[in-house]
Amino acid sequence: MRERFRVRGGARLVGEVSVVGAKNSALKLMAAALLAEGRTTLTNVPAIADVSIMAELLRSLGVDVCYDPPSGLVVLDVPGKIGHRADYRLVRALRASISALGPLVARTGAADVAVPGGDAIGSRGLDLHAAGLEALGASVHVSHGYLIATAPQGLTGTGIRLEFPSVGATENILTAAVLARGRTVIDNAAREPEIADLADLLVAMGAQVSGAGTSCIVVEGVEGLMPATHAVIPDRIAAGSWAFAATTTRGDLEVVGGVVEHLRAPLAALEQAGCTIETTRRGFRVAALDRPAAFDVATLPYPGFPTDLQPFAMAYNSVAAGSAMVTENLFEARFRIVQELARLGADAQVDGHHVMVHGVPVLSGAPVEASDIRSGAALVLAGLVAEGETLVSGVHHIDRGYPRFDEALRALGADVSREPDDDPWAD
Ligand code: UD1
Repeated sequence: MRERFRVRGGARLVGEVSVVGAKNSALKLMAAALLAEGRTTLTNVPAIADVSIMAELLRSLGVDVCYDPPSGLVVLDVPGKIGHRADYRLVRALRASISALGPLVARTGAADVAVPGGDAIGSRGLDLHAAGLEALGASVHVSHGYLIATAPQGLTGTGIRLEFPSVGATENILTAAVLARGRTVIDNAAREPEIADLADLLVAMGAQVSGAGTSCIVVEGVEGLMPATHAVIPDRIAAGSWAFAATTTRGDLEVVGGVVEHLRAPLAALEQAGCTIETTRRGFRVAALDRPAAFDVATLPYPGFPTDLQPFAMAYNSVAAGSAMVTENLFEARFRIVQELARLGADAQVDGHHVMVHGVPVLSGAPVEASDIRSGAALVLAGLVAEGETLVSGVHHIDRGYPRFDEALRALGADVSREPDDDPWAD
C-alpha cells in the first residue's frame, strides 16, 4: 500500500535521538559474508527495507539468512556451494546488490549480476568495477542486461589505480582481492568509513588488508576465509540528517551514537553558520536557537561534504538567513528536490550542477513527492518549517533509509503522521 506523511509545520525538534547502524555498511557486509563458508553474524543492522532485499538476494544464492529487525541481528549461514547469479528483479530493487560482484567472483570464479537501470540520482556507471576485476584477471562483459565476470583459474593481485575514488568500485575490488593470489594495491581508493568497516570484517574473517580508510589499500591475498561476528558502524548519513533536522527547525538535539569524526565537513559548516555543535559522552549535540546563516556546499568524496547530505543542505538553506550556492560534484541529476522545494515556496534556481538558494523566512505547506531516500527525508524537514500542512508522498523511499522516521520525529515534538496515499493520480 502506498503511504504518505502528513507534516504540520511549526515544531522545533528538541530531545535526543539514536543513530542506527549504517545502511551503506550493512549491505556490503552482508554481501561480504559470501566469501566464507559458515555462519557470519552481524549486529547493529538497521531495520530498513534495503536489508530485507539484500537478504532476499543472498537467499537466492543459497545462503540461509535470518534477519531480526528489532534486535538488529543478521545471521548468514553460507553453504559450501553458492549460486552466482544476481537477478534483475532484486538488483532493480536494490542497486547495492552490485556489491555481490566482488565476493562472487572471488569465491566461485563467476558472477552474473544484473546491470542496475538508471536511478533517481543520475547515471551511475560500472566501468571502474569492471576494469578493477579485469585487472585482477577476470574477464568481464555485458550480455542480455547482465554483467558477467569469470575467473575460472582464480584472481591474481596487481596494482590498480582508480580514476575516481568510487565507493562501490573500491569495495568490489577489495572483496575480490582478499582471495586473489598475491598482493593488490588499490590507489586513489575511496576513503569512506564504510570501507574501513568492510575491511574490519574482512580482517576478522582472516583477510590481510591494510590502509582501508586511506586512499591506498594494500591486500595480501589468502587461500580462504572463515566466518566472523561484526558490529555495523553507526550511520553517519542518518546522524548528519539529524544534525540538519535540529538546525533547520531551530531546535536542539543530542545525536546519540553519532560520530563527529565521520561528519567533519558538514558539522564544521554548520558551526561556521552559527549553529552550536558539541561533542557529548554519547555522541554530539546540535542546536540552532536563532535563524542560522546560509552556507555554500560543494559535495566531494569523503572526507568532503557527502552528496547524501546535499538535499538536507538545500532544505536548510531554503530557510536560512542569506544566500548560498549548492554544488553537486558526484551525481548529475541529484537536484530533483529543488522543484519540490519550489512548491513549498523556496527560492532556488538550478544552473548546471549548481543551485543558487536565497533563504526565505518561512516556507508554505503543499503536497510534494519524495524521489529518493535523502530528498524524501529532507522534504519532511522542509515541511516542518512550512506554514500549514505538507503532504510528502513516496514514503517507501524514506523507509529505505530511516527506520520509522515519523515515530522518531514525533518523539522530538514534530507533528507528523503516516497515512494511506489515496491519490488516484499518483504513479
Ligand atoms: C555509494 C553510496 C551512495 C553515495 C555514494 C557517494 C551505497 C549503497 N551507496 O554509492 O549513497 O551517494 O556512494 O558517496 O553505498 N562512477 C562511475 N563508474 C563506476 C563507478 C562510479 O562513473 O564504475 C561514478 C558514478 O556515476 C557517480 C560517482 O562515480 O557519479 C560516485 O559513485 P560511487 O562512489 O561508486 O557511489 P556508489 O558506490 O554507487
